[in-house]
Amino acid sequence: MAMAMAMAALRAVLLALLLRSLPSAGSSADSACAVPPDDRFDCGPERLLARAGCEARGCCYVPAGPGDGGGPPWCFFPRGYRSYRADNVTATAGGYAARLRRVVPSFLPADVGTLRLDVALETESRLRFTLRDPARQRYEVPVATPRVSIRAADLLYGVRLRQDPFGIVVFRQPGGQVLLNTSVAPLFFADQFLQISTSLPSRFISGLGERLTPLILDTAWTKVTLWNRDMAPVPQVNLYGSHPFYLVLEDGGSAHGVFLLNSNAMDVLLQPSPALTWRTTGGILDFYVFLGPDPQSVVRQYLDVVGFPFMPPYWALGFHLCRWGYSSTAATRQAAANMSAGRFPLDVQWNDLDYMDAKRDFTYNKETFRDYPDMVHDFHQRGLHYVMIVDPGISSSGPPGTYRPYDEGLKRGVFIRNATGQPLIGKVWPGPTAFPDFTNPETHEWWHDMVRDFHEQVPFDGMWIDMNEPSNFVEGSQDGCPDNSLEKPPYVPGVFGGRLQAGTICASSQQHLSSHYNLHSLYGLTEAIASHNALLRVRGTRPFVISRSTFAGHGRYAGHWTGDVESSWEQLARSVPEVLLFNLLGVPLVGADICGFVGDTSEELCVRWTQLGAFYPFMRNHNDHGNRPQEPYAFSLAAQDAMRRALRLRYSLLPHLYTLFHRAHVDGDTVARPLFLEFPKDPNTWSVDRQLLWGAGLLITPVLEQGQTKVSGYFPAGTWYSFTGDSTIHSRGQWILLAAPLDTINVHIRAGHILPLQEPGLNTAESRKKGMTVVVALTPDGFARGELYWDDGESWQSFEKGDCTEILFLAARGAVLSQILRAGGHLDGILLEAVTVLGVPSAPQRVLANGVPVEDFSYRSDTQVLRVSVLLPMWEQFVVAWS
Ligand SMILES: *[C@@H]1O[C@H](CO)[C@@H](O)[C@H](O)[C@H]1NC(C)=O
Ligand SMILES: *[C@@H]1O[C@H](CO)[C@@H](O)[C@H](O)[C@H]1NC(C)=O
Ligand SMILES: *[C@@H]1O[C@H](CO)[C@@H](O)[C@H](O)[C@H]1NC(C)=O
Ligand SMILES: *[C@@H]1O[C@H](CO)[C@@H](O)[C@H](O)[C@H]1NC(C)=O
Repeated sequence: MAMAMAMAALRAVLLALLLRSLPSAGSSADSACAVPPDDRFDCGPERLLARAGCEARGCCYVPAGPGDGGGPPWCFFPRGYRSYRADNVTATAGGYAARLRRVVPSFLPADVGTLRLDVALETESRLRFTLRDPARQRYEVPVATPRVSIRAADLLYGVRLRQDPFGIVVFRQPGGQVLLNTSVAPLFFADQFLQISTSLPSRFISGLGERLTPLILDTAWTKVTLWNRDMAPVPQVNLYGSHPFYLVLEDGGSAHGVFLLNSNAMDVLLQPSPALTWRTTGGILDFYVFLGPDPQSVVRQYLDVVGFPFMPPYWALGFHLCRWGYSSTAATRQAAANMSAGRFPLDVQWNDLDYMDAKRDFTYNKETFRDYPDMVHDFHQRGLHYVMIVDPGISSSGPPGTYRPYDEGLKRGVFIRNATGQPLIGKVWPGPTAFPDFTNPETHEWWHDMVRDFHEQVPFDGMWIDMNEPSNFVEGSQDGCPDNSLEKPPYVPGVFGGRLQAGTICASSQQHLSSHYNLHSLYGLTEAIASHNALLRVRGTRPFVISRSTFAGHGRYAGHWTGDVESSWEQLARSVPEVLLFNLLGVPLVGADICGFVGDTSEELCVRWTQLGAFYPFMRNHNDHGNRPQEPYAFSLAAQDAMRRALRLRYSLLPHLYTLFHRAHVDGDTVARPLFLEFPKDPNTWSVDRQLLWGAGLLITPVLEQGQTKVSGYFPAGTWYSFTGDSTIHSRGQWILLAAPLDTINVHIRAGHILPLQEPGLNTAESRKKGMTVVVALTPDGFARGELYWDDGESWQSFEKGDCTEILFLAARGAVLSQILRAGGHLDGILLEAVTVLGVPSAPQRVLANGVPVEDFSYRSDTQVLRVSVLLPMWEQFVVAWS
């Protein structure tokens, strides 16, 4: 069957080749250069060329616009510029292969003259194609991806090859919409310069993190550089993570995605035609194309390749409090005590560098943190959890025998090596440091041993891994970097600082799997994997790791916070697209530092940020050294009230949030969602990135500007109930101005959804035992559905082992019922205390719970809200009916 399909595909390709033997270019230089400005592709990527240099490359020179990358290039490829020619197309088990040969040498050193193209029709919605050097094994990203498995179903795509110059076209089936066409510009495949361009079917492109940017990228000559970098978020700069994946929305609401599995320093260039150019400095070209056809399916198909998100422990969804400057256990204890005195929910108390002895990992200050282990025990007694910062740089300057992590690391050979084979020494917080090489399995063992030894002293619950781009305060190393082609490649992407070593270690330093040049952007991911696995072995329960540096696939092991954001209104607003973006990238456990990290916050900003932060999947308030305090208790009583309300609102929604994380973990769903994921057919939603959804059913419209008590939000067509139940919006798909006094964040439930809520407590250990409410938001036809996933909140693989409860809620014809799909316990003792039904058109005369009349119910005809008080076991099926 598979072979028959492959043969059919091959026949289609051969036919296409025959039909497309195009005339070669250059018949007339003028017409070949008559390229509209928006369609021009840069022929001088590595340096600015004057006319003579440009024409010597066989390119066209037309000075127009700024000529600095912010507009059309002055030197650009003529149509039909020759690069590679394809021949020898043959069938393979999963698709077909072809040979590509360079027709004329490129202007870059070390062309790979012959390439092998492999096209694999992996599933009906996933295509993979790779370009490799058949003669030499080049570096490939060490990430396991699923094996090829063609299914005997209709493919959602078709592929055509163009022979000379080589190009590949991927189009949608049915319909024929061209999604990818690499014939728009020449292919380059030199040792340190690989470039391929494609047309895009629309300008609505998202992805390509990590940057401070709107959710939809600007295609007006934008360069997105990927190379992990310790950099306080500012626009147009490469930040902490690299995710070479994009998602494009097409006319009509279909979507597709493209993933380039490549970890080298790269630029991705966007231009208005619209088109996109991948320009990377090593590895191979290894592309996945995901056909959707809806955007949520694109995300799932991407996560099929890089991995579904890990399931966080329940407590991780509570409130986290941190600052650099809790300078002692006394101060740290006080922070937690002040929270509880102020009746603010808190689940996790954190420490920044303050706890360490001389800022060294796996040590603590025996004076200021003398009772550190006791402090953590005490937190546990009170139902809190505890997390501290850990940096990868290992202090290397003490005399031998004084610092075990370094001594042991040296002995076991875990550090990244420099040109003379010794540990490369840079400088981070403790002074001179060596950098563990997390691509070495031995390093994982050593890291585990260090985590275990420290945990035996201080029973911490999770790890906050920072500075893991890796960050280095000296350029390259204390001894500089060698002068070689890895440190100074022929093309340097637009990295901040202008050099690959800027802010990090030497590119040519050696790691177990390859050079740092190839592996740099994987540093945070590999450390996250080591930390995740170490925590699992040491604690035995679900690991909690939050990392600054990330790469594609990170969400399988850890979450992310968005780094050193400034306490400003602009950064408050930018945090919404960043949280949405990381959800598209499969890292749902993400949030920005609430109230901002760098600089003093203000009361109003901190209130608004706490309200929005209550809807970050990961909610942490974190402050920088020396700033004014920004814990909720540090403000006026009115501000405290507003923040307490926001926190209690989040805590009441935790059963729903936990269920969304479960869906992300088992189905590859998103938790925080851009509107376009739910409403792709409404193009008004495509660029909305000042609102977010939780799942499909809850819309959050935060205030993101100073001094505002009203906020405008987009409401897709349908019925939306305010969370409080006091107003209803029947939208035709329109912008609506909402009242938003300082103590309020607007939250709306979408008709058709049922949300399980729980009475908030001061932490999740408390709240998890409290009574539940089911909120039923009826469609005009009287339907709704929802679900609850529940387990003990922390065991490893509760779902996989079946140690969990799953409940489906359904409402129709004047009743709501629960159906227990899986009864794995852990809900015992929890009572359903109330049912709130939104959108009941007329006053019910009577209400029955499991067939028994209920006395205690109320109905308001102005708001159409029915509230029923019950006491029913959540662990048994129930029916509540009204008529
Ligand atoms: C054509 O491709 C087939 C299969 O990939 C290979 O065995 C054969 O050697 C190739 N022929 C040439 C001339 O490269
Ligand atoms: C692909 O792009 C080339 C060059 O711009 C163009 O000639 C060709 O028609 C395009 N193919 C399709 C299927 O759009
Ligand atoms: C806790 O509250 C007390 C009293 O308001 C205050 O003096 C102290 O600074 C607070 N501690 C911390 C760590 O915020
Ligand atoms: C390599 O690092 C060691 C310190 O571990 C240093 O003494 C040596 O000079 C470095 N070599 C180079 C080439 O930088």
